[in-house]
Amino acid sequence: TDASSTLDPNHSVGPVQRRLFGGFVEHLGRHIYDGIFEPTHPEADEDGFRRDVIALVRELGVSTIRYPGGNFVSGFQWEDSVGPREDRPRRLDLAWHSTETNEVGLHEFADWLEKVGSELMLAVNLGTRGTREALELLEYANIPGGTALAERRIGNGRREPFGVKMWCLGNEMDGPWQVGHRSAEDYGKIAAQTAKAMRMVDADLELVVCGSSSAHMPTFGEWERTVLTHTYDDVDYISCHAYYEEKGGDLGSFLASAVDMDRFIESVVATADHVGAVRGSQKRIDIAFDEWNVWYQSRFENVDKIAGLDNWPVAPRLLEDVYSVADAVVFGSLMISLLNHADRVTSASLAQLVNVIGPIMTEPGGPAWRQTTFFPFSITSRLARGRALRLPVQAGTYPTERYGEVPLVDAAATHDDETGRAAVFLVNRSTTEELTVTVDVTRLGDLSVEESHLMADEDHYAKNTLEDPERVTTRRNESARVVDGRLTVALPPVSWTAVGLA
Ligand code: AHR
Repeated sequence: TDASSTLDPNHSVGPVQRRLFGGFVEHLGRHIYDGIFEPTHPEADEDGFRRDVIALVRELGVSTIRYPGGNFVSGFQWEDSVGPREDRPRRLDLAWHSTETNEVGLHEFADWLEKVGSELMLAVNLGTRGTREALELLEYANIPGGTALAERRIGNGRREPFGVKMWCLGNEMDGPWQVGHRSAEDYGKIAAQTAKAMRMVDADLELVVCGSSSAHMPTFGEWERTVLTHTYDDVDYISCHAYYEEKGGDLGSFLASAVDMDRFIESVVATADHVGAVRGSQKRIDIAFDEWNVWYQSRFENVDKIAGLDNWPVAPRLLEDVYSVADAVVFGSLMISLLNHADRVTSASLAQLVNVIGPIMTEPGGPAWRQTTFFPFSITSRLARGRALRLPVQAGTYPTERYGEVPLVDAAATHDDETGRAAVFLVNRSTTEELTVTVDVTRLGDLSVEESHLMADEDHYAKNTLEDPERVTTRRNESARVVDGRLTVALPPVSWTAVGLA
């Protein structure tokens, strides 16, 4: 054994909220059109949605889905997307230099969410628009009837309100690429005004204010402090966004991405708590990690950007990253980071879902398949129930270029007090050594291994593609067993393991 640890039901991190397993759907590339919506596809249902995609999204186990952007939302006029389809305008989407046909809008997306069994989380446009339009969308979506916009919704075929609880106050407003990018001061003011007004409609809304687009933005930290100084009393969450990729063949640093995510979360918590302390406030701001994933942004930057006054394609192929085993291992460790901060990260959204940096890929007229990242998400979402428990595993460290000395093994655990079930999630970051971990589980009761899953491959860069869509899946981790109340599990190099105990 290279490391041993103990699980204690009293060493609780916090309850694991279902919203931790949220997703994100943006009008971007082939996400909506030729992704979830393809009326001419043989698998299309009566509304034009692909049944095969719906089945995969259900299997993935996504709780809440953030919509409709992303950078897209900062130029979006929600009114364009409702009412008779034939009257909906085609618009320029400045964020992705595309044409938005508005064939799928609020109503259709909400219908699709009912089919996949997920909750709607909406972002309002604080880029080209402001408080008034946010209020109008809220009225349209959530007021039962008797006002102009509520009646318009009913006229458009939806009697019951959409009942959207969670709202993002804009998107990445700290980013110079954002249409309507603002300073922290300016954004803090408009976010506070908008939040106050929205709460005058419904005091129970859950509001997310924009934090930084990444922990590596020049304004990181100061942005959070300033924005929260303006909005502390009016919002519930501040957002975090993070994307990771392997750069320059440095697999060791890439595998340690969750170390960066851990520090990011802890810095934002510290900053939020500082603002609370200065204000003498009892209130606590939580984190909505509403964009996270592996994303090869450097490759994206090298792609010829769509440009030209006469060139605004519909649903171009954009951000269609194809994920490897190593990507899925890192992805699994990012989920471990979320679980280990379940006390403060109470909502998160995998960015994104289909075709666009997605765990699910589709081919127009052709199949839909699971990327490598599909597996750690679906398995973690299904097994991580109840409360997150501390699981310190000291299996040694290794040096990395980007993050210094980091732990070889990353681990998280959950325990469901109601069912008595537990789950353990482990990542081995070593590129050469197998490591064995032993966890004393006696304090959780008489448990044995009910299921185990291993993501590992001789070829760390194996991928699922249209030609070979099932090249990578998880298999059982045959080594996992409980003997005398001790779980022992062997972790191959560059691997992710989940063990369900019952
Ligand atoms: O998820 C892709 C893009 O990444 C989103 O539109 C934006 O919010 C972020 O920069």
